[in-house]
Amino acid sequence: MATDQTSVRPVTKAVVTVAGLGTRFLPATKATPKEMLPIVDKPAIQYVVEEAVAAGLDDVLLVTGRNKNAIENHFDRNWELEAALEAKGDLERLKRVRESAVIADLHYTRQGDPRGLGHAVLCAARHVGQEPFAVLLGDDLIDERDPLLTTMLDVQARHGGSVVALMQVPRDQINLYGCAAIEGEPDDLGAVTIVDLVEKPPVADAPSNLAIIGRYVLDPGVFDVLRETDPGRGGEIQLTDALRRMAVSGEHGPVHGVVFTGRRYDTGDRLEYLKTVVRLAAERADLGPDFSTWLKGYVTEELGR
Ligand code: UTP
Repeated sequence: MATDQTSVRPVTKAVVTVAGLGTRFLPATKATPKEMLPIVDKPAIQYVVEEAVAAGLDDVLLVTGRNKNAIENHFDRNWELEAALEAKGDLERLKRVRESAVIADLHYTRQGDPRGLGHAVLCAARHVGQEPFAVLLGDDLIDERDPLLTTMLDVQARHGGSVVALMQVPRDQINLYGCAAIEGEPDDLGAVTIVDLVEKPPVADAPSNLAIIGRYVLDPGVFDVLRETDPGRGGEIQLTDALRRMAVSGEHGPVHGVVFTGRRYDTGDRLEYLKTVVRLAAERADLGPDFSTWLKGYVTEELGR
């Protein structure tokens, strides 16, 4: 149902997918989900859950795979640790340790076989029910200074249907992403209409350089479409394929895109992960000054040789 009231957002639930194999990070991810890798001193997944909460979605379902215990434990109380920190009088760390346990109303479901992002989203069907909902990829970080999800929720409230986050990438990298064909000019929220989607197209066939990034607001009709979606690229059930059908047919409402121009960190890729850690460490008030001084020296003296 379309509405012009951007202030009325029907979305209350977020689904965060963390069930992938994380093969690019092996062997680190043999026994630990990649979403638990630290970005300085906080695991990537915590940034993502905090982002959902900041957008007003504090009912968060994590779709987990093997090794889910580390994630569940991170978002749980750790009485022994808390008692030890309290005894030492380390109240600052105590606060940070407790924070992750009260962050949101967290739920968990298992994907079982990691049969693709579309399949992971389908695992959320029972929890989500008949409401529109957000999907956040657990290894994809959006800088809190550049809120994206809030805009996407506003777009969904205005137009109904589904909303996909897009980002311009260099043309020769579009084959690494889902790619969107759009129509028309952006409205005042920056929303464009998506008319086609294709998962990881060859560069020569890509309809644009607009890549799908890891944020979605979806109509619950996507579950019916996913149930009928055959495995696609890589033998996986692709969310992009289901959204393509919705965009082309118009069933379950329009599919809009929001072109994001802010800071995004793809922590599932080793090079991007390293850049993220360096950048966020350099910006930290506590570590930044010392780290930046060392980094400048390292770059000019060691790498400059
Ligand atoms: P990726 O495409 O990064 O795949 O998944 P991956 O398996 O996690 O990592 P690599 O490529 O082997 O290194 C994107 C997002 O979708 C989730 C992942 O956890 C990540 O958040 N995902 C992917 C699932 O939850 N289940 C799947 O079957 C596949």
